[in-house]
Formats: sequence, structure tokens, C-alpha cells
Amino acid sequence: MIDLQDVTLTFPDGTSRITAVDHASLHVGAGETVGIIGPSGSGKSSLLAVASTLIAPDSGTVTIDGVVATDLDLAGRAELRRTRVGLVFQQSNLLSSLTAVEQLTVTNELTTDRRRRSARAAARRRALQLLDEVGLAADADKRPAQLSGGQRQRVNVARALMSRPAVLVVDEPTSALDQERGAQIIDLLLRLTAEHGTATILVTHEPRFLPRLTTAHSMVDGRLSEQSDRPGAPGS
Ligand SMILES: Nc1ncnc2c1ncn2[C@@H]1O[C@H](COP(=O)(O)OP(=O)(O)O)[C@@H](O)[C@H]1O
Ligand SMILES: [Mg+2]
Repeated sequence: MIDLQDVTLTFPDGTSRITAVDHASLHVGAGETVGIIGPSGSGKSSLLAVASTLIAPDSGTVTIDGVVATDLDLAGRAELRRTRVGLVFQQSNLLSSLTAVEQLTVTNELTTDRRRRSARAAARRRALQLLDEVGLAADADKRPAQLSGGQRQRVNVARALMSRPAVLVVDEPTSALDQERGAQIIDLLLRLTAEHGTATILVTHEPRFLPRLTTAHSMVDGRLSEQSDRPGAPGS
């Protein structure tokens, strides 16, 4: 699970500061997908940067799986992020020289002893399992140039799950995709969130996806509020 309490984040802006996130609170339980929608510049990516411990907020607390991330130092946050948080961004950030399965195992190569062949074999098994779960079992040995935009985003989602994260943070994953492939990525995220029990925060610019999520919030000028009027929501 992830819990944000009264989080505020500002950035320097000339002689004053700009408030990117303004006293935002959010709770996402295991297996839930919470959506955030809002205009460009409203603070959505900033909120995700705080939720994923990439940026420490000016004030407020972030709790991930019972660990108060905002009490940790830089190294502690990096370790928490490495072990408990999966990140999916709009651009898939794949390395052009690596195959799909290598995109998933490269982090393990960097963090585990290369001589531990059993650990490497286990990482490869998990990577192949995850590629199968995202529908790319037959594409494990393809490089990004041989994959479509939708397939690259699937590799990105699989890679985010390698560390068995408690929290999945996803920023506009469909913005580079056409309608149908975008909908398929949302379906995939909902299914994997339920199956892997992650607490998933999904920023999207497409309102049509919101009714399928556990709850939806809108963000305006850094302030977060629950959307009660979305089509298909209980009580609407
Ligand atoms: N690293 C940064 N330095 C200064 N200002 C930033 C930085 N990141 C974001 N901002 C500002 O914070 C506000 C929110 O930006 P952002 O979180 O990217 O919004 P969104 O993702 O909703 O488009 C904007 O005014 C943006 O210019
Ligand atoms: Mg953004």
C-alpha cells in the first residue's frame, strides 16, 4: 500500500517558489488502481515523483508498505525505491542494444554478484515469466527497434514488476499510443495490479479510462480532489 498525507512540494521559481503539489493526501491499497487526471502543469508528475520517493516533499508524509519514506535519508529512499516501487513513464526508456528479456534483467546484473549464477538464472526465469504475462513470450529476444510502441510499453510494465514492488507508479502510459493500444495497456495494468497485489497510481489524460479504476482523483493547481461525478462511478 501507499499513503500520502498532506504532501506539499515547491520548486524554486525566480525569486519565489512555485507550489507543484499543494497539501495532497492519497491512499492506495494493495490490488487497487487509483487514477489521477488533470490539466498539463497541474502537478501530476510532481505528485508521482514524491510518491515514488524520487523527490522529498517540503512537508507531509509518504508511507510505503508501512515504511515512512519521508523519514529516510537519500540512500534509504533509494533502497526503498529499488525494492518496493515500480515506475512506468510515458517514454519507455528502453536501451536500444538490449533484447526484451535483457531490459528486465539488466538491473539485477548491476546489483547482484555476477558470479552468482543461480541468482542470474532466477532473474532470467522471472523476466521470461513477466514477459509471458504481458503477452510477449515470443518476443523475449527482440530489441526495441523490432517492437511496436505498444509492445515497448509492455516491456516497460514487465520491467517495473521485476523487483516485486508494493507500489506501481505510472505516468501517462498511453499518450504515445493509439486508442486501441492505449486501452490494452490500461487493461494490462488493471490485471497485473490485481494479480500482483500492487498499489497502483495511474496518471492519465484520458477520462474514458477512469470508470474502470478503483477511484479517480482530479488534480488542479497542485490540489487533489476525488472525482464524484465520473461516468459509471457509484452514486452517479
Ligand atoms: N524540476 C522542476 N523545477 C521547477 N519547476 C518544476 C519542476 N518540475 C515541475 N515543475 C513545475 O511544477 C508544476 C507542475 O508540473 P508537473 O508536475 O510536471 O505537472 P503535470 O505532470 O500535471 O503536467 C509546473 O508549473 C511545472 O512547471
Ligand atoms: Mg506530467
